[in-house]
Amino acid sequence: MALNPRIDDWNGRRVWIVGASSGIGRATAAALHARGARVAVSARTQGGLDAFVSEHPGSIALPLDVTDAASVQGACAQLRTTMGGADLVFACAGHYQPLRATAFSLPLMRRHVEVNYLGVLHVIDAVLPDMLAAGRGHLSLMGSVAGYRGLPQALAYGPTKAALNNLAEVLYLDLHDHGLGISIVNPGFVDTPLTAQNRFHMPALMTSEQAALEIVRGWQAGQFEIHFPRRFTLGLKTLQSAWHGLYFAAIRRATGL
Ligand SMILES: NC(=O)c1ccc[n+]([C@@H]2O[C@H](COP(=O)([O-])OP(=O)(O)OC[C@H]3O[C@@H](n4cnc5c(N)ncnc54)[C@H](OP(=O)(O)O)[C@@H]3O)[C@@H](O)[C@H]2O)c1
Repeated sequence: MALNPRIDDWNGRRVWIVGASSGIGRATAAALHARGARVAVSARTQGGLDAFVSEHPGSIALPLDVTDAASVQGACAQLRTTMGGADLVFACAGHYQPLRATAFSLPLMRRHVEVNYLGVLHVIDAVLPDMLAAGRGHLSLMGSVAGYRGLPQALAYGPTKAALNNLAEVLYLDLHDHGLGISIVNPGFVDTPLTAQNRFHMPALMTSEQAALEIVRGWQAGQFEIHFPRRFTLGLKTLQSAWHGLYFAAIRRATGL
């Protein structure tokens, strides 16, 4: 059953992707541009955004730092001026560094919260009033299966993605009846600059282009949670409700950590 309004036709649809200078965000922006969407791309790296715009005529670059609320508001104001706003906003920017509690680092913990959680709140703060006033639009958050339950190495990253999963559910409950679409994207492992630092085997690893297709398909189908690859995520979902003793033993056995 579709929980959100389906998006059948991308032609002329205005899409803002925050975290689109590389990886999954960039691939998703490219996939939507290929389907006729008007795409605005944001991130900190001007060079990455300019390269996207020169390869995708008609798209626009809106540089910003999600940790700086004023810079997100500034980019959103520019979006309003140039494209009249956005029909779909994808808060995809993220930060990841593997961390274990034996090496606890408060600065690293804070950095993940600032980019992955507060950064998303800054995006929501900038776009929600327009969407509510219009009574339409779709807001999609980038989560991760690392947000389902505790995983080794994910001390700083996992809790921020767990928070986004919870946030997306609350947003859905509050905003669905106002005509807005809300979704959370929970990928397994995708080969991007973010995961290049992982020194462990990443099961069911997929490309950014494959991930982008799954995301676009999910939005089209009106899904609330878009998770992939299913051969990996369905196993983790089974473990979501497992008793703690069973869960810890299964994760230790699977990761060797
Ligand atoms: N790869 C995976 O296996 C995987 C799995 C689950 C979820 N995810 C999530 O997918 C999202 C995209 O990650 P990715 O794997 O595609 O890695 P990526 O290529 O490193 O992309 C991260 C994006 O976030 C942007 N970003 C980071 N900090 C930012 C900031 N302070 N302000 C604005 N933009 C910022 C980066 O651009 P700049 O550096 O230019 O600012 C880049 O465009 C993240 O939210 C990540 O947590 C990834």
